[in-house]
Amino acid sequence: MITLTLNNNVELPALGFGVFQSAPEVTTQAVESALSVGYRHIDTAAIYGNEREVGEGIRRSGIPRDDVFIETKVWVSDYGYDEALHAFDKAAGKLGVEQLDLLILHQPATDRFEKTIAAYKALETLLADGKVRAIGVSNFMPHHLERLLGETSVVPAVNQIEVHPYFTQPEVQKADAEHGILTQAWSPIGGITFYPGFGDERRNVMDDPTLQRVAAEHGKTAAQVMLRWHLQQGRSAIPKSTNPERIAQNFDVFDFELSAEDIARIDALDTGVRNGPDPDTPRPERFAIVIPEA
Ligand code: A2P
Repeated sequence: MITLTLNNNVELPALGFGVFQSAPEVTTQAVESALSVGYRHIDTAAIYGNEREVGEGIRRSGIPRDDVFIETKVWVSDYGYDEALHAFDKAAGKLGVEQLDLLILHQPATDRFEKTIAAYKALETLLADGKVRAIGVSNFMPHHLERLLGETSVVPAVNQIEVHPYFTQPEVQKADAEHGILTQAWSPIGGITFYPGFGDERRNVMDDPTLQRVAAEHGKTAAQVMLRWHLQQGRSAIPKSTNPERIAQNFDVFDFELSAEDIARIDALDTGVRNGPDPDTPRPERFAIVIPEA
């Protein structure tokens, strides 16, 4: 296991377990399965609709609450100061915990940025009150970060963005690093290409011949090579799976090392084309989704 120290000295297990598009009915089992093979960090979100099942999986695992790093995200319909304070109550209530380890804004809402700022100020209050151990953002481009930093006082601990070998966002990673913000990769193994509605026409990263070659050289899979690539570059990564073998496979990445040359070959695969949504484009229908009470 590799842990990373956030800018407020909180420790985060670098390799977390993702539950994006994990149906509620399979999430509890997936989380239990992940914790049983060694994951100690779970990343969920209000909009995923499975916080309750994540909490249940953690409780069923028998692992003490304090040994698991719980990260979740405030959805856009809860932006605004009071709304975001209440979003904490909803999330903590569903997860069944008193305190969250990391609470982040799911994305900048460019059609209502002042509400995005107000929501972040609520996260600052939650941090000061000890309700969350760290706060951050997701899908923030450098210009969103600049605006946020200019209007708030706590530098985000984390910026969770799309990063996989076909889309590495070097300019966002650079801006994060300059501000002491940890870059956390969502869709770290390029799985976004498998999700309905996203990147349906795009190439599957896992089939990439270079990755397949590096994987064969190390006796590992392309997914394991990608996760190792994130970890060796100092990023946090949160691969999703609901399949027990793949959950275990994605955590079995601490027994090999990529060479500098391997890493350079993988870096060279960047296409500059994102598979997920563009953070600058508002999505009114999605933004309007109401997060239920706990
Ligand atoms: P499944 O849940 O059936 O395993 P990402 O985290 O990059 O978004 O990737 C998640 C997607 O990739 C999911 O569709 C998941 O499906 C699939 N996946 C997860 N781990 C692996 C793996 N080791 N090999 C192949 N596919 C994987």
